[in-house]
Amino acid sequence: MNTLEHAKDTLNSTGYLEVETPKNIDYVKEINALRKEKKAVILAHYYQEKAIQDIADFVGDSLALAQEAAKTDAEIIVFAGVHFMAETAKILNPNKKVLLPDLKAGCSLADSCPPEQFKAFTEAHPDHKVVTYINCSAEIKTLSDVVCTSSNAVKIINSFPAAQKLIFAPDKNLGDYLNKQTGRNMLLWEGACMVHEAFSIEKLLDLYKQHPDAEIIAHPESPAHILKTAAYIGSTSGLLKYARESKKEKFIVATEAGILHEMIKQVPEKTLIAAPSEEDNTCACSECGYMKLNTLKKLYTCMKYELPAVDVDPVMAEKALLPIERMLALS
Ligand code: 13P
Ligand code: SF4
Repeated sequence: MNTLEHAKDTLNSTGYLEVETPKNIDYVKEINALRKEKKAVILAHYYQEKAIQDIADFVGDSLALAQEAAKTDAEIIVFAGVHFMAETAKILNPNKKVLLPDLKAGCSLADSCPPEQFKAFTEAHPDHKVVTYINCSAEIKTLSDVVCTSSNAVKIINSFPAAQKLIFAPDKNLGDYLNKQTGRNMLLWEGACMVHEAFSIEKLLDLYKQHPDAEIIAHPESPAHILKTAAYIGSTSGLLKYARESKKEKFIVATEAGILHEMIKQVPEKTLIAAPSEEDNTCACSECGYMKLNTLKKLYTCMKYELPAVDVDPVMAEKALLPIERMLALS
């Protein structure tokens, strides 16, 4: 078996193609050539490492990335993000190849909602419609009436009559925030994102004492005690917009630290500080280990060998498409 065959063979355990690349390879140059040759588009989330954000054709929040995936005419979609994002792109483009640099780039929030248990939960509440955050598996999407992201969740929830009972899954923090925003009493699934759950309120308040001229801005996946301190709460693109438009010169940013790369580009004159997490005493930043599994080298190898690709069972994909399309129509 040659090296490539061996690498393909071990894809399931490694999550990516473990192949050697030439010593002085220029990944940026090679990726640019492959993108052209293969008519590929590279979509990246704001939590990706800097070099990946810089080389992407499009960088955005979960909603913008899904919208971009829905309208692309590229032949290959390279998704620099996590599995549920690439899976959503595949559901929207069943006839296109969707590549994910590392198949193990998962999501703790998506993992916190196992389909069998969630199915039983929905069956126990047959009079409830199901709204799910896009951070969930394709199977969970098949059990949903409509999908949402943090950019459009209020609008999507408000599209249901006030008397309609709702289940919201999988993020309990986002769900609790949305209940307060909409005045609903949605039944919440008990899931959470490990990155946003890890912010330390004590360290955050200490930091704020040192920078009383700053504003705390937070992603709604953060727990209520963190959100209470925030002058603004919003999705990654919402946080960027707020930093751009606010008159304030300094922000403490409570979301995954990758967002700071784009924020620094958009407001280079302002001071941006990553909110501190519980376990981190060194850099005071919060990183998503799943997002950071993707590297420039893995991006190159996945484009060169067109592996790993994300596949979704066609029957499941057809069912999961409906709530995604409803979201796109309402956005
Ligand atoms: P948004 O980019 O939609 O705000 O989502 C954040 C996130 O946690 C993605 O995993
Ligand atoms: Fe999932 Fe949280 Fe990572 Fe986003 S930051 S991909 S919600 S684990």
